[in-house]
Amino acid sequence: MIVVDKVSKDVKKYLEDKKKIVDNRLESYFKDKNNSFDVQALEAALSYTTLLDGKRIRPILAIAVYEMYREDIDRILDPACALELIHAGSLMLDDLPCMDDAKLRRGKKTSHLVFGESVTILASASLWVRAFRILANVEDVRINKLVKLTSDFIGEHGLALGQYLDLFSMGRVQTKDQLEKSYELKTSVLFQLAVQYGGIMGGASENDLELLNEYARHLGIAFQIRDDIIDATQTKEESGKDAHKDEDNHKLNYVSLLGLAGAEEALMNEIKQAEHSLGSIDRDSNLLSEISELLSKY
Ligand code: IPE
Ligand code: IPE
Ligand code: MG
Ligand code: MG
Ligand code: MG
Repeated sequence: MIVVDKVSKDVKKYLEDKKKIVDNRLESYFKDKNNSFDVQALEAALSYTTLLDGKRIRPILAIAVYEMYREDIDRILDPACALELIHAGSLMLDDLPCMDDAKLRRGKKTSHLVFGESVTILASASLWVRAFRILANVEDVRINKLVKLTSDFIGEHGLALGQYLDLFSMGRVQTKDQLEKSYELKTSVLFQLAVQYGGIMGGASENDLELLNEYARHLGIAFQIRDDIIDATQTKEESGKDAHKDEDNHKLNYVSLLGLAGAEEALMNEIKQAEHSLGSIDRDSNLLSEISELLSKY
């Protein structure tokens, strides 16, 4: 027990330290201003949601996996932060009135309430493109793989499809298996990209990459179930997001399908499977195991 407490403290410190590094790099992306036109609102919308206080769990996961194989984390920092830009862009779209119609994100007003819907849509599209530009500027033979994976995982076969199924679940998503698959598409994909980025840039074996991918798939599903539980149980002050949004929107989620206890059980089951995938990895995966434990309680 004492050992676990000690390790958990170390993990919290690891997350805090890496969050600072990620936050600094993200800030550096928004320093250049466009002087040719008066485009302040578009530029401000690009950085607004991105630089609000997020957990940065996807870039941190990429770094944590990379550090299982190599130490020079500067090589993974830009690809890792590119993922956070994609995440921020997806949150801005997710919050729009035509999607979840949310008012609060990361403890502040949602982007469309500050800049309007049209500017928010343009900014989120630009953030996704910016992510690819950041990847393109990394000089490494492995970058091509990252670009290909990213386009496969966030487009109409990945995140965009997951969000479509989330919005139009009627007649398409009914069973627990179907819901789990839709969570893999809308949420696990960014976790999977994070571990693939870390593993590929770190030089992981094909076998390790597959195991890491399974870990991230289960972790992403667990993370989304935990998010469903947060939506049902926390106040907006606690979560920094609108409370009971899924219920108000009559969303199918793990809590509405299985009840709170059923959702908790499914969450623990996914965490167990995530940790099981780490078992045969050729490196010390203790940190990843601790991260999954911690995320299941965030
Ligand atoms: C929110 O993601 C969207 C989900 C997939 C549940 P996070 O919970 O990682 O949000 P931030 O980045 O910390 O704001
Ligand atoms: C969001 O799921 C998933 C993506 C943004 C791709 P939710 O709609 O549950 O996320 P929150 O609760 O708004 O953060
Ligand atoms: Mg949503
Ligand atoms: Mg939402
Ligand atoms: Mg949610």
